[in-house]
Amino acid sequence: EILIIDFGSQYTQLIARRIRELNVYSEIIPCNVPFSEIKKRKPSGIVLSGGPSSVYEEGAPSIDKEIFNLGIPILGICYGMQLITHLLGGKVSRAEKREYGKAILKIEDLSDIFNGVSQETVVWMSHADKITEMPQGFVRLAYTENSPYAAMAHKEKKIYALQFHPEVVHTEEGEKILSNFVFKVCKCSPSWNMHSFIEKQIEEIRKKVGSKKVVCAISGGVDSTVTAVLIHKAIGDALTCIFVDNGLLRAGEREKVEQMLRNNFHINLKVVDASERFLRKLRKVRDPEQKRKIIGREFIKIFEEEARKIEGVKFLAQGTLYPDVIESVSFKGPSATIKSHHNVGGLLKRMRLKLIEPLRELFKDEVRQLGRELGIPDEILQRHPFPGPGLAIRCIGEVTRERLEILREADKIVLEEIKKSGWYNKVWQSFAVLLPIKTVGVMGDERTYEHVIAIRVVHSIDGMTADWVRLPYELLERLSNRIINEVKGVNRVVYDITSKPPGTIEWE
Ligand code: XMP
Repeated sequence: EILIIDFGSQYTQLIARRIRELNVYSEIIPCNVPFSEIKKRKPSGIVLSGGPSSVYEEGAPSIDKEIFNLGIPILGICYGMQLITHLLGGKVSRAEKREYGKAILKIEDLSDIFNGVSQETVVWMSHADKITEMPQGFVRLAYTENSPYAAMAHKEKKIYALQFHPEVVHTEEGEKILSNFVFKVCKCSPSWNMHSFIEKQIEEIRKKVGSKKVVCAISGGVDSTVTAVLIHKAIGDALTCIFVDNGLLRAGEREKVEQMLRNNFHINLKVVDASERFLRKLRKVRDPEQKRKIIGREFIKIFEEEARKIEGVKFLAQGTLYPDVIESVSFKGPSATIKSHHNVGGLLKRMRLKLIEPLRELFKDEVRQLGRELGIPDEILQRHPFPGPGLAIRCIGEVTRERLEILREADKIVLEEIKKSGWYNKVWQSFAVLLPIKTVGVMGDERTYEHVIAIRVVHSIDGMTADWVRLPYELLERLSNRIINEVKGVNRVVYDITSKPPGTIEWE
C-alpha cells in the first residue's frame, strides 16, 4: 500500500483516488499520527501531501525526520516538497509572486518518475513558497519559469519531490508521473481491485462477527444498500435489515426497497410502518430544525425498539464512506458534517453494539463500482441523494398527510419527466417542494385558490456548492402542465433559479 500523509491540501483525496485508479491500495492518514504507527504499517511508499501552511510559520505541521531513514520511497508534493527541503537543510522562501494555474514544466532528467513523459509538459501549480536551495544530495529534475526547482530527487534514498500537483487533471501527464512513482520507484503491483476488495471484506466481516448477529438500517439509498448486500454475502441470515417507513418517503419507495432486498437478494428485511407515529410528532411543527430533530429522535427510538427484538445482536452496520472518515480524523479537528442526522452514538452505548463499516475505505464512485460487482441494479446505484428527514423538509410549513400526498404526487411527476428526458443522470438532485401559500388562478370559467409547487433541479459535485440547471423550456412546460393537470389542489408551478451559496439545495 501507499500511505498518504495529509498536511491539509484540498487535493489530498485526489492523490488517493489517482493511486487507487492504478489498482494500488492507498490510504490517507493525518500528519499528526504517531511516527511509530507509520513505521509499523510498512507501506511500499509514502506521499507527503500539499497543504496551506508555510514551513517556517510557527506551528506549521511537520513530521519526524526519521521518516527519511526508513528506506521507504517518498514523494513530496507542494508543501510536502517544501517540508522535505526544510527538514533536510535546504532553503524555502516566499516567492515574490504566487504561482497559480498552468505552467510549462521543462524536464532535465527523463528517467524514473519522469520516464515516458514529454520533455516539456503542462503542470498545475498552486503555491506561494518555493525552493531556492536544495538539500544536500538532491539533484534537480525539472524547472518552470517561476520555480527553479519544480522537481528534485535524492536518488539513493528514493526521495522525490514535486512543486506542482500531479494528482489534478490539469497536469497533463500527472497520471504517468504517479504511476512511475508507484510502479517503478515503489515497485508496487497492480493487484487492488473491487473483486479483491470484496473477498477481503467478506473474510474480515466473518472473522469479526463470528456467530453473533448484525443489524443494519436501510434507507433505500446507495450506501446502505451496498452495505447490506455486502454483509449479507458474508454472513447470510445473521444479518437483519430494518427499514422504517416514516410516512415521509417518495412515491413507491417502500415497495421498491422491499422488492429489491427481499426478492432479488433474499435479505432478512423488517419493514416498520411508523408513519402514524412520525406524523403525530410532527403535528403543528413548522420550524425546519425542529422537524429534523423530531424525525432523527423518533427514528433512533423505533430502530432501537426493533433491534432489541433480534436475539444475539451485537453489531450495527453503517454505510460510512471514506470522505466522512477523513473529515472526522483530519488533523485540523473534526468538522461538522451535515449528513449525520442519525446520531447513533447513544444507541451503540445503550445496546452495547459495535460498529461495522465495510465501506469506510471507499469513495462514492468506488461504492457504485462495488455495488455493480455485487449485482445491484444501476437504477439504485445512480440514485440522487435524498435527505434523511425526507419529504418533511420539502413540505414547507406544517406536515400533514394531505399536504404530503400533494407533494408526493408532484415529486413523482418531476422524477418521471426528468428521467424520461435523459436529465436524471446529468444532474445532482431534482425534486418538488410544496410551498405554504395558496395563490389565485383561473381554470375553465372558475376562480381557483390553491397550492404552489416549486421545482428544484441542481448540478453539484459534492453537495457543498450547487448551481440551478438550465432545463429546456419545453421540459419545464411539460412539468408545469402535468403537475397542474394531474395533481389535485395545485394551480401554480415555479422554478427555483437560486445557486448555493447563497441558497441551499433543500428549502429547509
Ligand atoms: P443543503 O440543503 O444543505 O443540502 O444545501 C446539501 C445536501 O445534503 C442533503 N441534506 C440532508 N441530508 N439529512 C440528510 O440526510 C438532512 O437533514 C439534510 N439536509 C440536506 C441535501 O439533500 C443535499 O444533497
